[in-house]
Amino acid sequence: MLFRPQAYAARFNASARRLAMPELPEDLFVAAVEGGSLYLRPSMFATEAVLGVRPARAYKFLVIASPAGNYFKSGAPAVSIWVNDYTRAAPGGTGAAKCGGNYAGSLVQTAQAFAQGHDQVLFLDVAEHRWVEELGGMNLFFVHADGSLVTPPLGGTILPGITRDSLITLARDKGLTVREERYSLNQWRSDAASGALLETFACGTAAVVTPLAKSPTPQANF
Ligand SMILES: Cc1ncc(COP(=O)(O)O)c(C=O)c1O
Repeated sequence: MLFRPQAYAARFNASARRLAMPELPEDLFVAAVEGGSLYLRPSMFATEAVLGVRPARAYKFLVIASPAGNYFKSGAPAVSIWVNDYTRAAPGGTGAAKCGGNYAGSLVQTAQAFAQGHDQVLFLDVAEHRWVEELGGMNLFFVHADGSLVTPPLGGTILPGITRDSLITLARDKGLTVREERYSLNQWRSDAASGALLETFACGTAAVVTPLAKSPTPQANF
């Protein structure tokens, strides 16, 4: 069974628009991913044989289907994160598009995070290096002691996760307060120390809902 395939189709097309690539009829997208119980990765890339800096005139859309185990090697996953000086996306850039370039730019620091026993890199905002944005492949939620949830707002520099959107909807349906607002690393540290913050979790299609924890940490199953 597919989870919100239209939402994934819409984001695919929003990403394509941002990258000057053609959009795909949503029905075609949904038909292409229907019926799979595998990890499905709809993709589009330019196929025109030309050397130049301009949008291509020919593209291929395909769905890669591969057997998938747990995102994390351990059965009881918790994500351990690493904060560093690298940044992921600047305002006006391609941070909100699901595109290979965003991941390419995060590989060095993610490899360094793995080498140090962590699972993911935490990206802070480019301008002040202060505000929490997201992880290399997951959005973040902060669970406060008063029962409210905080998640960094969409603003063009983080990926609009379908899981994030679903959790916001479900939480609000249950009567919980969800605030989409900026949250600084310093505030996170002091709220965690004071007990004002109960839990932080990461979310994404592959990572589902996974708490953040220190060590010992399971390694991401890449
Ligand atoms: C950078 C980034 N943020 C967040 C997410 C979570 O998005 P979704 O819930 O749509 O899988 C992903 C997953 O693809 C991601 O790569």
